[in-house]
Parts: sequence; structure tokens; C-alpha cells
Amino acid sequence: MTVNAETQAGGNTWQNLPAAQQPEYPDQEALRSVIEELASYPPLVFAGECDLLRSRLGAVAKGEAFLLQGGDCAEAFDAVSADHIRNKLKTLLQMGAVLTYAASVPVVKVGRIAGQYSKPRSKPTETRGGVTLPSYRGDSVNGFDFTAEARIPDPERLKRMYHASASTLNLVRAFTTGGYADLRQVHAWNQDFVKSSPSGQRYEQLAREIDNALHFMHACGADPEEFKTVEFYASHEALLLDYESALTRTDSRTGRLYDTSGHFVWVGERTRQLDGAHIEFASQIRNPLGVKLGPSTTAAEALEYVERLDPDQEPGRLTFIVRMGADKVRDKLPELVEKVTASGATVGWITDPMHGNTFEAASGHKTRRFDDVLDEVKGFFEVHKELGTHPGGIHVELTGDDVTECVGGGDEIFVDDLHQRYETACDPRLNRSQSLDLAFLVAEMYRDQ
Ligand code: PEP
Ligand code: CO
Repeated sequence: MTVNAETQAGGNTWQNLPAAQQPEYPDQEALRSVIEELASYPPLVFAGECDLLRSRLGAVAKGEAFLLQGGDCAEAFDAVSADHIRNKLKTLLQMGAVLTYAASVPVVKVGRIAGQYSKPRSKPTETRGGVTLPSYRGDSVNGFDFTAEARIPDPERLKRMYHASASTLNLVRAFTTGGYADLRQVHAWNQDFVKSSPSGQRYEQLAREIDNALHFMHACGADPEEFKTVEFYASHEALLLDYESALTRTDSRTGRLYDTSGHFVWVGERTRQLDGAHIEFASQIRNPLGVKLGPSTTAAEALEYVERLDPDQEPGRLTFIVRMGADKVRDKLPELVEKVTASGATVGWITDPMHGNTFEAASGHKTRRFDDVLDEVKGFFEVHKELGTHPGGIHVELTGDDVTECVGGGDEIFVDDLHQRYETACDPRLNRSQSLDLAFLVAEMYRDQ
């Protein structure tokens, strides 16, 4: 049982340090009362689940498993619906099946889901048609609408984030353990998709092979429990420290602190300052952690993250999520991997091929080219091959819906198509077809490494 801690000794040490990217709430009293209420709510995840994920990520760090982490850039309150959640989950399950089967590697599945409501921004304000307003910082902070009223940070939104995360997680748990994720459904996940898309057809072929293997095993008398449910975890960026801290509780089994807002949390590229509040907060919790590493990361910084966040050098505790950009990963990554490996730490290395490859199309849409995404993944694999280290996984922004936000892919989306279904509240996501394309290509790279 994880219980509410009255005060989290050690859990609030971040409060004296500079915290980047926090909202400026006009009403501090209202904020305090929301935090108090959040602290009384039940945890969203159980500490034991976080421990299990840490051991799974230990296998990733040791080269025995592959991490698939994906979901929206920003979840939105009005997208907490059965259809959206199911479509996202289905896409991740299909990608997981492709990677497991085609790359013959155990796949650890983690959603950017049930808590990914807060966004760091490069600019504090946004200007449209001569009007300047505070930037949208995610549904947990303010509204997406471009009006002065919507953009005021409202602490009540933190409670909505909690409830939205709870209902999402509830449905995800129901789907993943209640039969929907049973491997024998491998065809069913594809039903609404197969005819219309080349990647759907390619998937159908793979699903047939999996089906044959399952029938063969069944005929031999094997019906393993592992095929009936899927281990699936929730993750998000630990950005809003008031929220994360209110959900941080002492685990009564171990007396250690866990951030019970999700299984895995990461510190983003804009908040990874070594003397800042986010790294301090992360150092106090037992959850498995991620740190995003952008192109300016030095080897000394990477070593310091290990020192601060993984002092016991425990495989699975720390995963570096590398987001250099396709044009930089081959130059910048080798030194980081070399020095961290030489330090004796066994961290996970995964590639986020999205955030270093964003550009603005002439139409004004923020987009990414599928080929750049693929090229960054290729570069990431090349670096690890050269160094004899393990390319541990991918971290992608995707949706299960047929949106038109990234260009390229087998079922090609052109710049002129972007306006058709551009629905993201923040960064452009791969649609289902592009996600499956990526899974097949990554499986090939993994097999060939
Ligand atoms: C994100 O993951 O949506 C994000 C903002 O990433 P980064 O911190 O790498 O820029
Ligand atoms: Co993003």
C-alpha cells in the first residue's frame, strides 16, 4: 500500500531551488488550496508497479529488451474519450507486436499518457495578428483558445488533470488486462485499417504469421498467460512540480518516496538544469526516471545526471532520452555514450527522433518530416553499433487517429495536406500509418545491428 505522507521529508527539497517553466498563478491562495486537495487524493499508480517497470528498464539498459514509449505531445481534456484512448493504445500494441515479432526482442511498452498535460514552451508569449498573450502551457495550466481569459493559469486545472489521468489510466488498465490486448486479437487491432493503407497491409501479413505461430503453440498444448494481458505503463514529463509533489507519497513497504502520478517520469530538455528544482525533485523519488538530452548536452552534464539520479548505478533507474536532431546525432551522441559507459553506469539509451526535427511549413504549420525522424533513428543505431552499446528504444509522439501533422510516410502526407486534419495541441504527431511504418523500419534496423 502506498499511503499519503503528511509531509514528504525529502520530497519538498526542490522548493528552495529555481524551477523553470512554472506557471505564474495570479491567485496563490487558490493554488495552495488545490495542492492540499490533490495531496489528499488517492495515488494513481502503485509503488510496486514502478519497481517492476524499473526492473524492465533494467533489461533495456542491459541490452535484453527494447523500450517503446509513445503518445501525444500534449494530452487534452476534451480528448479523454474511449475512442481516442483505444486508438492510441491500439497503435502502440500494433507497434509492439511488430517490434517483438520482427526484431525478436521483448518490448517494454510505455505510453506518454494519463498525465502528459503540461508543456514547457520556448517562448513565454505568443503573438497573432498584433495581439500578444501568454503561451498555452498545456491543459493542466491554461486554455488553448487565443483569448486573454483562456490563457490565465488556473490551478483548478490541476484537479482536472488528476481526474483526466485517473479515468484514462482506468480505461487503459481495463483494455490491457481485460482481453482487448490478448495477442489473439492481433488481427482485430488492424480491422478498421488494413484495406486503406500499405502499412496496414504489411501489418496484416505479420499478424497472419503471429496467428500461425499461436495456432501451432496451441496445438502443442501451450496456452501461456503472457499472451492474454499486456504489461503497459504510463509516463509523462514531470514539469509542474506543485502537482508532482502533491502526488508524491511515502511507500509504506519501503518508506521511500514515489511520484504516484505515473510510473515513469522524465525531466525535459528545458528543465534539466543541474542546479534547478526538477533534477532535485527527481533525485528524491524512486520511480524510474528519464532525462531528455538535447544537442547542447555535454559529457560532464551527462555524468552529473548519473551521479545525482543514479548514484547506486542501478540498471533501469535512469534512461537517457536523446533528442539531438537528425543532423547532429552522429556528431553529438558518441562522446556521451562513451563517457557514461566508461563511468560504469548502466543507463538506458533511447532515441526521441521527434523534438530535434521540427520546422515550420510555409502554411505556418509546425511539422516534421518522416524521413528526418527515420534518419535520426538510423544515426542513433549507427552510433551504438560503432560503440558496441545497446540502442535501447524509441520515444515518439504519435496518435491512433488519421491526422495530417507530419509529412511523408508510406501513405504519403504532403505539405499541402497538413491543413486537412491538423489537431495537435502542441507538437506534430505521427499518425497511425506513419507509426506502423516506423515500427517496421526500426525492427529492421534492430535485426541488422
Ligand atoms: C516533449 O517531449 O514534448 C518535449 C517538450 O520535449 P523536449 O523536452 O525534449 O523538448
Ligand atoms: Co512534444
